Amino acid sequence: MFLKNAWYVAAWGDELGRALYPTVILGEKIVMFRKEDGTPVALENACPHRKLPLSMGRLRGDQVECGYHGLVFNCSGKCTRAPGSARIPQGAQVRSYPLTERYGLVWIWMGDVDKADPDKVFRVEEWGDPSWGINRGDSMEIACNYLYMTDNLLDPSHVAWVHPSTFGNAACEEEPLQTKVTGNGVIVSRWMRDAEVAPFYAPFVKFTGNCDRLQHYEVHYPSHAIIKSLFTPAGTGTDDGPLHEKVFLMSSYNFMTPIDESNTRYYWFQMRNFDPASEAVSRQFAESVRFAFSEDRVILSAVHVGMATKSTPNIDLVTDSGPLRFRRGLAQLIAEEQGPASIPVVLQQASQGKVEA
Ligand SMILES: [Fe+2]
Repeated sequence: MFLKNAWYVAAWGDELGRALYPTVILGEKIVMFRKEDGTPVALENACPHRKLPLSMGRLRGDQVECGYHGLVFNCSGKCTRAPGSARIPQGAQVRSYPLTERYGLVWIWMGDVDKADPDKVFRVEEWGDPSWGINRGDSMEIACNYLYMTDNLLDPSHVAWVHPSTFGNAACEEEPLQTKVTGNGVIVSRWMRDAEVAPFYAPFVKFTGNCDRLQHYEVHYPSHAIIKSLFTPAGTGTDDGPLHEKVFLMSSYNFMTPIDESNTRYYWFQMRNFDPASEAVSRQFAESVRFAFSEDRVILSAVHVGMATKSTPNIDLVTDSGPLRFRRGLAQLIAEEQGPASIPVVLQQASQGKVEA
């Protein structure tokens, strides 16, 4: 089940042009393209006649012509031409979705059109600050329900076992987690004191010796995460004190767009507080991050299958507190959106981590 009244990432901006771009978001078939002036457009990808995907047709200026009988639809989804018919048939209309562009990404509003407010797009606080560098992002599809990804991104402990050659090391195995429920999601965090710097970060950290490391995992509704990494010389890490001059800061932005109940498209980029202009650093991060996220992909797709086909009960661990609170908070929002009758179903799915195969 999905929250509809929310902005999701639909594509990277440079994926859209004057070719028809078919996609599926929250189980809905969508076709996107750019108008001649560059404005992105998203329409339902099914002609109302025989449901041929409009993406199999062609662009005529800023309108889409169906490849079966030539019905033409404008950017609002209204049919403007129906060859062979004396007048445009009633019901010759496809849905049009609000879009907005931010951070090089195209965002789509999947709910009530009159509730679409571009100011509600996830905020990247470092964006536009010249002292921060950008690790150019990427995307991948993962064959799992999106809630296994929000679980993963509220679970700092998994790095010890899933990412031992990159994000994690032995220091990440035992340290307890703090969980905080906020108005728009959940934060799970912990300090690791006097620890070795994990392999992924070691080449970039500007000090030698052990570190104090903060892992800050935060997921906002519906499914957008910011993972903040802080490394500072051992003994200098505090929650509210001034930052050490050699502190390493990285904010990793992770946007999950459900394709359907069993598949998710994962978009990401990182901001870093050092070497802002270095292409080499950006490239090295991009490669390491993609490698590490591929490790998650293997685990999460197998978890999805394991949970969907389980023949014995599963258990929860103390580290599941944050993920389960997020699931419950999101389920409450979905239930409010869908009406009271849906509440038992939604809450049951959330508490059991249960999803359809
Ligand atoms: Fe991971």
